[in-house]
Parts: sequence; C-alpha cells; structure tokens
Amino acid sequence: MREIVQRLEEKRAAATLGGGQIRIDKQHAKGKLTARERIQLLLDPGTFEEWDMFVEHRCTDFGMDENKVPGDGVVIGYGTICGRLVFVYSQDFTVFGGSLSSAHAAKICKIFKQAIKVGAPVIGINDSGGARIQEGVESLGGYSDVFQANVLASGVVPQISMIMGPCAGGAVYSPAITDFIFMVKDTSYMFLTGPEVVKTVTHEVVTSEELGGAKTHTSKSGVAALAFENDVEALLLLRRFINFLPASNKEKPPHWPTSDPGTRIVPSLCSLIPADPNKPYDMKEAIYKIVDDNDFFELQPDFAANIIIGFGRMEGSTVGIIANQPMVLAGCLDINASTKAARFIRFCDAFNIPLLTLIDVPGFLPGTDQEYGGIIKHGAKLLYAYAEATVPKITVITRKAYGGAYCVMASKHLRGDVNFAWPSAEIAVMGPKGAVEIIFRSKMGDPEKIEELTEDYREKFANPFVAGKLGFIDDVLMPQNTRIRVCRSLSMLKDKDLKNPWRKHGNIPL
Ligand code: HXC
Repeated sequence: MREIVQRLEEKRAAATLGGGQIRIDKQHAKGKLTARERIQLLLDPGTFEEWDMFVEHRCTDFGMDENKVPGDGVVIGYGTICGRLVFVYSQDFTVFGGSLSSAHAAKICKIFKQAIKVGAPVIGINDSGGARIQEGVESLGGYSDVFQANVLASGVVPQISMIMGPCAGGAVYSPAITDFIFMVKDTSYMFLTGPEVVKTVTHEVVTSEELGGAKTHTSKSGVAALAFENDVEALLLLRRFINFLPASNKEKPPHWPTSDPGTRIVPSLCSLIPADPNKPYDMKEAIYKIVDDNDFFELQPDFAANIIIGFGRMEGSTVGIIANQPMVLAGCLDINASTKAARFIRFCDAFNIPLLTLIDVPGFLPGTDQEYGGIIKHGAKLLYAYAEATVPKITVITRKAYGGAYCVMASKHLRGDVNFAWPSAEIAVMGPKGAVEIIFRSKMGDPEKIEELTEDYREKFANPFVAGKLGFIDDVLMPQNTRIRVCRSLSMLKDKDLKNPWRKHGNIPL
C-alpha cells in the first residue's frame, strides 16, 4: 500500500511538473503562464477537481514509448467561478508543445460529455502546436472527436475558447465552433496555414502576428471577440464574463444583486439625440446609462463597429444588447455587422437571454462591395436570427428606422414583444430627401418645390406617429424613462412562453 501511495505521489509530481522546469521557465519567459497556473487564476481558490492526471499517450513510434508525461499535455477538470460550476481544459505547452494526441483528445471529450450531462459551461484554454506529429492520423481522429463534441454541446452549454498560445491548422476549428473566442495580445495566434506556407503558395510575406494575431482577429476577421493584454487580465475578465451567462440552455440567466433600482430615471438621455438628424452621437452612452451600474460587457468592439453587441444587466438579470452605432458608417447595416449581430442573437436565444435592441439605422449599406460580398445572404442572417428568436425581445427606436433595416431589427412584425420609440424616432421607407428625389423626380429642376415636398414628407413620416397609429410601436416614451420602461417590460415578459413549429432544424442562409 505504501508503495502504491509513493508511486501515486511520484506520478502526481511528474504530472504537476509537466514538461519540466526548463520548459516552464521558457513559458514564463514568453510572458505566458503554465496550464495549471491559468486554471488557478480562473477558478475560485481550492475548487479545482482534476481528472485524468495519469492518462498517457499510446504512441510507440519515434521513441515515444520512452517519452511519456502523465496527463499528456492537457489538464482537465471542473471547479467554480463565483460559486458557479464550470468545466475547463487547459493545454500544457511544456508537454510536447501542448500537441494533441488521441489520449489528450479523449480527455477533452470526457469533460464535454460530463458538462452536457450536468449543464455547465466549458472553457477551453488553447496553447498547442496542433496535431501530435509523432502520432499521425490517430491524432487527427482525436481532433475530429473534439469537433464533434463541440458541435453536440453547441446551444446546450456555453463554450468559451481562450487562445493563449499557438492555435494553428485544423486545430482552429474547435475554437471556431465555440460561442466566444478570446485572445491574448502578442502571445497568441490562430491561422489555418502559417506564414511559411502562405509565402510558398501566394508569395505574400506576412508575420504570424499580422496573419493571425489578436489584433487581426479582433479587428479584421472578426474571429475573436476580445484581445487582452496578458494572461492575468484575460483570465480575470473571463471570470467577469462568465457571470453574465446561464450555465446551460435549461437555465435562466443568473441573477446578481444590484443596488441600481429599476425605477432610475436617466435625465441626460434627453439631450443625447442631436437636433440635426444627420449628426452622429454615441449610442454606447445610451447603453451604459440604461444598464445596471453602467456595467456593459461589450464584445467585438473593434470589428463592424457600426453595430454594438454585448451583455448588460437589468435589475440584476442578464440582457443581450444589440444597438446600431451612428458614429460608424452612420449606423448602416453591412455584411460584417449583420453576421456579428446575428450570431450574438442566436447565442442569446439558445441560452434564454432576453434581447434589448436600440435602433438608429438609416438602412443597409449600398454598393458593389456589399452586393458582390453577398449582403443579401448575410443581411438575411440577421433577419432570420431575430425572427427565429423566442426569448423576450424589447426594442427602442431612438432615431432612424428606415427601410429593410426597420423590418430586420427586431420589429413588431418579427415578434418584437415590446417596441418603443423615442419622440425623435423617424420610421419610414427611407429618409425624406431620398424619398422625394424618387417619387418626385420630375420636379427635381425646382429646388423650392423639392424643399417643400421634403418638408411634407418629413412632417408625415419622420416621426413615430404613423407607426404608432398602426400599432407597430407600443408606445412613445421619453428618453429619460427608458430604463424604467425596459425593466417593467422585462418583468412582464419573465415567464414568456413561445415555441416555433417543430422541425429538425431551420436552414439559416449560411
Ligand atoms: C509534437 C510538438 C508539436 C507537434 C511542437 N512540438 N509542436 N510535438 N507535435 N505538433 C514540440 C516541439 O518538438 C518542442 O519539443 C516543443 O513542442 C516546443 O516546440 P518549439 O518548436 O520549441 O516551440 P516554439 O519555438 O515556441 O514554436 C511553437 C510552434 C512550433 C510554432 C507551435 O513548435 C511548430 O511549428 N510546431 C508544429 C506545428 C504544426 O505544424 N502542427 C501540426 C499542424 S496540422 P521539445 O521536446 O523540444 O520541447 C494540425 C492538423 C490538425 O494540427 C487537423 C485537425 C483537423
């Protein structure tokens, strides 16, 4: 017995040391924490329950039978964040570069299966050289198993990928399926083929950072939601982020106590909208002022900034916020904005998070770039996501709601539950000037007449009353009362029960 305990302790010590002190020092020298240090920071102290510490790879080629590290390059288990259960896997770069063997993959799949059974999020900390080269196709099979686990967990439990080192080749597809990808600046990168292959195939010369660093993926590709300064910041903010999410699709969003009353009036919102309808203003100001404690967790701020997405709370419960941003492209919807918002809406809908939409949208962005890029298909994603969503949907039109964009952005017709407008709302097929230029083209030679007709059109449509008369908006509210009215609406909707017709699955335009 004593001998077994001693062997156990030796194995534990070997697993804990991973690839050894020299490699740990190398990891630290790069500004990176080790797999275990990351878990320690992420979870509540003393709550981590590790599984499969003694798992070893089964490869015998290339001298691998003599080269085994207990745990095989990934630390898995569960623990809590602010007292709430989460599952976690953390790849250990000090062990064969965190590369994925079939044994390593089986460990990851094990926690996915358990997380689905008990209904808790899975956080994957990625730091890996990809498929274990010595193992060949067996490791590719392992990757496929992980992908399958990601897909089966999608919409059942939240999945978050933290990229904290290399993530290259087909390995990127596991994070890509998860709900949110976060990266660390300067130490993480994601690409399908690295700079060398790119140079050979396309003759482009590009660094790893330019090709797939955190800046690239948070601003150009939109693959990642946020870039953090370092490992510590990333893990601490991940703790804050996870507090917004329900543990599974069977739960309502968590409720956190707040001292910010739902009856709070926000007088400064009355001066947010400029007198000139073509002048921009910062929609984020409205969001921060409406949510509890001015606490808004924005996602993808540097990608398609013409639409804002993120989580806030109203009277302690999470809401998903989608808002046009008049400061960027006048708040027009384009391809990137449509896909960014559509995916966020689908996440919220899958996890019972009510949607609050703030609208100031002059329409879809015109032009060949957009048409050739398939704005028809991508804009339809946003429409589809809103129309399919059965969670409570509250919209507030602050200013423009024109044309197709009016329909798409959580309108009454797409089963908006409560649709408000501020007095400054303009709900029409298009802006007065554009409308008059089309319907009175023959009078274009008479600027005075055109001016008069434009005024007439503005008088008729550039206000919330036509939509109000038709019941397309439920009420016109004073901006300072927005928080109060949204809180009341959410409270009224808390037991909303709406189901879509049975189907295997819909066919969102991909
Ligand atoms: C086995 C690996 C490995 C791998 C790294 N190592 N990648 N071992 N399989 N894929 C080992 C190294 O041998 C080394 O071991 C240790 O990890 C650290 O690697 P270094 O190269 O010293 O580190 P660094 O200079 O930081 O470079 C990191 C790296 C590089 C950029 C990730 O190691 C690299 O390019 N690795 C290969 C990447 C790759 O081509 N992977 C396969 C992609 S295809 P020692 O013992 O010296 O410490 C793929 C397909 C997935 O993943 C398909 C899914 C469908």
